[in-house]
Amino acid sequence: SRSVKLAVIAGDGIGPEVVAEALKVLDAVTQSEPVDFDLTHFSLGATRFLDTGDVLTDEDLAAISAHDAILLGAVGGVPGDPRLKDANIERGLLLKLRFSLDHYVNLRPSVLFPGVPSPLGDPGEVDFVVVREGTEGPYVGNGGAIRQGTPQEVANEVSVNTAYGVERVVRYAFETARNRPRKRLTLVHKTNVLVFSGSLWQRLVTEVAVDYPDVAVDYLHVDAATIFLVTNPSRFDVIVTDNLFGDILTDLAAAISGGIGLAASGNINPDGRFPSMFEPVHGSAPDIAGRQLADPTAAILSVALLLDHLGLTDAAARVSAAVTADIVARSVDSNTGSAGSGPRSTSAVGDAIVTRLTGTSA
Ligand code: NAD
Ligand code: IPM
Ligand code: MN
Repeated sequence: SRSVKLAVIAGDGIGPEVVAEALKVLDAVTQSEPVDFDLTHFSLGATRFLDTGDVLTDEDLAAISAHDAILLGAVGGVPGDPRLKDANIERGLLLKLRFSLDHYVNLRPSVLFPGVPSPLGDPGEVDFVVVREGTEGPYVGNGGAIRQGTPQEVANEVSVNTAYGVERVVRYAFETARNRPRKRLTLVHKTNVLVFSGSLWQRLVTEVAVDYPDVAVDYLHVDAATIFLVTNPSRFDVIVTDNLFGDILTDLAAAISGGIGLAASGNINPDGRFPSMFEPVHGSAPDIAGRQLADPTAAILSVALLLDHLGLTDAAARVSAAVTADIVARSVDSNTGSAGSGPRSTSAVGDAIVTRLTGTSA
């Protein structure tokens, strides 16, 4: 049978707790599939840095690159921890992986499952996907500061947008829209103020649209997009946007569609030259770590995205269905979708989903 080499980065805080459940589900769902997952665990993140001083060595990166896909929990310590000041785990590890492995599509679906409370009174149907650019924008680290620490300090953070980088993610977004029933694409930017990058994004959307006459295109400024995400989320189908806007919009999207505990993502290298990486949208949640309070659903849904990416679409659908059934059955805290607010521990949620998949307890 087919063998898939999976790199697992459990990471920090709740990362290992939610990844343990995700792996239980992966194991259960692939029992009946002609595929074997060959797992390599990488110890990376704040904990590793505090132990060894390493963030991501060249050897780590080379070893991870040799896998078919990556599952990541979350990395990062307690925000503001002085011991981590020079480590910059987020840049040196997470973004380094996304950039080095050319994860130019950061795919973040938002679905409000039936029965799940939303902080919105009557949101209507929520089923959209944010195609967030993953390798450019203000994230590239093209910045610098002078006269640091003085009243004359100047700090620049330049947003880098290349025609090559924008076009490829825009094309992916059109392709995604074409394959969805509503076939609708919204470009979100801030073209009224960010005129240079704005006109590049707008131009490429207009140009690529010619190849997708079946896709309806519109545009929203990012500030207005936050209004509509709250007042009328069902107007959205596919959103394409830059790295930073996409980061912010997808936490909002998670909040309206059941909470951050449910939001999954894929960092995709569509060319298949590098392994794609699947992870919950949430972070390491130091405030609840180590207490079995985290909701593992986002990590489990990230496994569904991983399976889908690998072409194991039936297994992906079975995970999604088991998760949906579990979500419908639970009572969810409308802020976080957190199991912590209900009676179930992190592992109890994982076990319940495994039981739905297999009919037996893990
Ligand atoms: P966070 O997402 O870790 O936590 C925000 C809030 O959501 C917290 O109250 C947390 O308890 C809650 N929460 C998050 N995931 C949850 C879950 N699965 N179940 C229940 N509640 C959950 O964001 P933060 O506090 O801004 O960041 C904490 C650390 O994580 C920082 O070091 C940050 O840089 C890092 N981070 C990492 C990633 C990643 O690895 N992909 C993503 C975001 C943040
Ligand atoms: C996310 C996170 C990361 C991002 C951080 C931790 C670098 O917030 O995955 O959404 O900004 O992309
Ligand atoms: Mn984020």
